[in-house]
Amino acid sequence: MASPSRSGVFAKETDSRVELFTESISFDARLYAHDIRGSIAHAQMLEKIGILTDNEREAIEGALLDIKADIEAGNFTTSISLEDIHMHIEKMLIDKLGDVGRKLHTGRSRNDQVSTDFRLWVRDALDRVDELLLQLQRAFVGRCDQDADTIIPAYTHMQRAQPVLAPHYWLAYCEKLQRDRERIADCRKRLNESSLGVAALAGTSIPIDRQDTAERLGFDRVAANSLDVSSDRDFVLESAFALSMVATHLSSWAEEWILWKTIEFDFIDLPHEFCTGSSIMPQKINPDILELIRGKTGRVIGSLQTLLILIKGLPLAYNRDLQEDKPALFDAFDTVEACLDIAAPLVEGATIKADSINQRLEQGFLDATTMMEYLILQGIPQRTAHHMIGCLVALATEHNTSLAKLPLEEFQKLSPDLDEKIYGVLGVKNAIAAFKSYGSTAPEQVKAQISAWKTRLEM
Ligand code: ARG
Repeated sequence: MASPSRSGVFAKETDSRVELFTESISFDARLYAHDIRGSIAHAQMLEKIGILTDNEREAIEGALLDIKADIEAGNFTTSISLEDIHMHIEKMLIDKLGDVGRKLHTGRSRNDQVSTDFRLWVRDALDRVDELLLQLQRAFVGRCDQDADTIIPAYTHMQRAQPVLAPHYWLAYCEKLQRDRERIADCRKRLNESSLGVAALAGTSIPIDRQDTAERLGFDRVAANSLDVSSDRDFVLESAFALSMVATHLSSWAEEWILWKTIEFDFIDLPHEFCTGSSIMPQKINPDILELIRGKTGRVIGSLQTLLILIKGLPLAYNRDLQEDKPALFDAFDTVEACLDIAAPLVEGATIKADSINQRLEQGFLDATTMMEYLILQGIPQRTAHHMIGCLVALATEHNTSLAKLPLEEFQKLSPDLDEKIYGVLGVKNAIAAFKSYGSTAPEQVKAQISAWKTRLEM
C-alpha cells in the first residue's frame, strides 16, 4: 500500500518557494469566465458520450455557474497552493460536488484547457479591439464635414510639400486603422480552431467528441494535430503583432498632433478636459494623453518581442515557458484598448485652427508641383519643367514672395508661350482644385471617399 503521507508520485510536499515561483493565478484569474465556458462545453460533451449522467452534467453545470457568480460577486480568495485559475475552479467544484466534480477533468489536460481558455479570451479581446478601432475611425470620419474646406500643408521629410484637404488627412488614418481591423479579422480566423481534447499532447483513449465541443464554443473547426496545437501559440504572436501595428499607427498620429499643438505649428487645439497642466508653469496646457499613447507603444512592441523570444526555443509539445505568454499579451491588450478608448474622444473634441493655418498657408511653395504639372500639360518635358519651377522658386525666395505674386514676364522668360492662365493653378486654393487623380486630395475625390467611408462605417 502506498503511504498516505505521499502526495501521489511525490515523496514530499511542494516547497513553498516553488509554489510562489510557479504560480500563475496572480495573472490568469481573468480567464475565469472562459474557463467556465470551456468546462461547461466539455461536461456537455462528456454526457453525450456517456461518461457523465444527465444528473451529473446538470450538477456540474449548475455548480460552475454558481462559481462564476461567486467570482463576480467577489466571493473568491486565491491561494498559490492552487497554481492557476483552472485548479482554483476545479477545487471549488470538487468542494461543492465531491466525486462528481472529480469527473470533469476526464479526457482533457490543463494544457489543452489553458490553450482553449486563452483562445476564447483572445477571440473576445480581438472583437473588443475591432469595435474600438471602428469607434476611432468613426471619430475621424465624423470630423470630415466640419473640416471639409480646411486646407493643410502636407509634408515630406517634415518640409512643406503639397496642400491637402483636412478630410484627406483624417481618411488617411481611417485607411491605416482599416488595415489593422483586417489584420485582426485575419488573426481571428486562424485562431478560431479548437484545441480542446488534445489533452496533454497526444490526444486521449477516451472516446471524446471534439467536433461537439468545438461547435459549442463557437470554433470554426477542430485542430488536426494534437502535438502541434498543444504547443501552438501562433495566435498569441499574431495578435501581439496586430496590436503592435495598431499601437504604431496611434503613435505616429500622436506624434503628429503633438507637433501640431505647438505654437510653432499651431494647427490644432485639443479639448482642455483631455490636457494636463504643469505644477510650476501656470500657462501650460500639455498634450500628455498623446505623449502617453506614443510612449505606451513601447510596451506593446516590447510584449511582441517578449513573446517571440519566449516561443522561439521551444521543442514540441507543451513547455512550462508557455505560462509566460499571458502577462505579455494581457498587457498588450490592456494598453492598446486604453489608448484606443481615449483616442476617439480626443479626435472628436479637437479643433483645427484654420485661421492660424491660413496665415502661413502660402509659405513653402505648396503650389510648385501643380505649376510644374501645368507646364507638363502644355507640352514641356517634366525634367525641363522641374528645372524651370526650381528657378522660379529660387527667384521668389530671393524676393520674399510667392509664385502667384511673380509678374507674368518672369514666367515668360522661361517659356514665352505662357500667358495669364498660369495664375489659375497658382496659390494653394487653385492648386487643390487642380488635383485630378484617383485617391488624390482633389475635392471631388475626397468627397467621394467621405461618403464611401460613411457607408462602410454605417454612419
Ligand atoms: N498554469 C499553467 C499555464 O498557465 C498550466 C500548466 C499546465 N500544465 C502543466 N503541465 N503544468 O500554462
